[in-house]
Amino acid sequence: MEDKRPTLTTRQGHPVRDNQSMRTVGERGPATLENYQFIEKITHFDRERVPERVVHARGTGAHGFFEAYGNIGNEPASKYTRAKVLNQTGVRTPMFVRFSTVIGGKDSPETARDPRGFAVKFKTVEGNWDLVGNNLKIFFIRDAIKFPDMIHAFKPDPVTNRQEAWRFYDFVSNSPEALHMVTWVKSPWGIPASYREMEGSGVNTYKLVNDQGVAHLVKFHWVPKQGVRNLTARQAAEIQAHDVSHATRDLYEAIERGEFPEWEFCVQLMADGDHPELDFDPLDDTKLWPEDKFPLLPLGRMVLDKNPDNVFAETEQSAFGTGVLVDGVDFSDDKMLQGRTLSYSDTQRYRVGANYLQLPVNAPQQGAQPRTNQRDGQMAFYVDTGGEDKHINYEPSLVGGLKEAAQPEHDYHQHVEGHLGRYQTSRTADDYRQAGERYRSFEDWEREELINNVGGDLKSCPEPIQLRMVWHLWHCDEDYGRRVAERAGIDLEKAKALPPMEGKPAPHQARHMGGKSE
Ligand code: HEM
Repeated sequence: MEDKRPTLTTRQGHPVRDNQSMRTVGERGPATLENYQFIEKITHFDRERVPERVVHARGTGAHGFFEAYGNIGNEPASKYTRAKVLNQTGVRTPMFVRFSTVIGGKDSPETARDPRGFAVKFKTVEGNWDLVGNNLKIFFIRDAIKFPDMIHAFKPDPVTNRQEAWRFYDFVSNSPEALHMVTWVKSPWGIPASYREMEGSGVNTYKLVNDQGVAHLVKFHWVPKQGVRNLTARQAAEIQAHDVSHATRDLYEAIERGEFPEWEFCVQLMADGDHPELDFDPLDDTKLWPEDKFPLLPLGRMVLDKNPDNVFAETEQSAFGTGVLVDGVDFSDDKMLQGRTLSYSDTQRYRVGANYLQLPVNAPQQGAQPRTNQRDGQMAFYVDTGGEDKHINYEPSLVGGLKEAAQPEHDYHQHVEGHLGRYQTSRTADDYRQAGERYRSFEDWEREELINNVGGDLKSCPEPIQLRMVWHLWHCDEDYGRRVAERAGIDLEKAKALPPMEGKPAPHQARHMGGKSE
């Protein structure tokens, strides 16, 4: 039978006649340096790895689309945002999504107890919009400057190369704002059964801006049509014993079978402003916006219907960032969002390279063709002129090149005033109340898991960390503190007798802290 397979070539386009033998002097002689085909092959192999993501290294991706309903709740979406991707119906916006765990390396088990990353890239007609979220709606910290310390504490010990419980709880016991998130992560919600069966959330507070230049504070959420399912520690251990990639396999196989997972996209809205009437700061990402006051309003749906052709080219080289917004979606002053926005594109220029936005998975589509005067750098493989004038790589010019876009009729201008400084706490810094509410709202089996997980972890921690953690948990909910102490064999009375933490707001007191500036 005729062999119709294409011929193997080098990257220079030369046919490869022998891919099994390098050139040697005689059958048993030494290799030679002009061995171009061999050298190209081996040296390219030597460069196959790029640095893995510093966090969220273990992930899996899929392509899909987004469709807006045209409404937010019962009102036209255009009342809140001028972003076409959110207010135009009948348009399918292509998307690329990457799910991940946070702490483990690129090939680590997907059964890890960890938040799950939920990063989406909308390739809209107005350019890309990335929403880089997690499965849980809140986070451990509320100031971006703490992120490197937090990640160091959660990653393996630099000496033992093991994730150590005492490092995690040492950080947490000094950062009470993390108690709410820890209560979620140490419950079964810390191990979603699969990526298809988990929620997603933008976590940080953004703004929606309409064509009158009016802004609303907004939280974005994804609700899975497949329902939510989480695992106990024992179920996760059983899966991990025979499969370290169960979540990747589940998503890949479902899409191959044509069972396309779907999520409803929802928002919570609040008028723009400080909201002193609330007992939490809407810019504090360690707090939930209560859903009875701020209901989840559906505005569209996302369907994942295609697996990547190549994991490296697409999933690994995909680059999401919180700075990638479209007109009609804006930043809030959420300190995490502000800090994150620098970090993503910075790490991607290092991890993937200066021209990472030219890669197909990251480049805009749908006619939103980039036309810039950015030039050169490693791996530049086309020039962003938009195909017109190739001489004028600057702006402004009287004779050609690119021109600025028209200003919107009503732009949004935020009024900002204040004293420059370092402010330690958010306005309403009760870091215990929502954690306690969460503890009480769990089902019995979830609470039991939480106690076992935290109690089990604390057993191996030094006494000062044990006592301070029990003190914190007791202030979240007395039953929470007592049961963890019992489980870990910690003296509850000794823990309760600890003085309040220096420089931290007292438990159960949502106090006006003002702020301390340098
Ligand atoms: C990935 C920084 C907080 C969700 C990353 C990466 C960095 C980073 C450097 C690697 C990106 C890459 O290599 O492409 C930060 C900083 C944070 C922060 C400095 C706090 C100040 C958060 C929060 C969330 C989050 C609060 C959830 C809302 C993600 C996700 C990814 C990621 C989902 C993986 C994106 C992907 O799949 O490529 N983060 N992060 N991060 N981060 Fe954050």
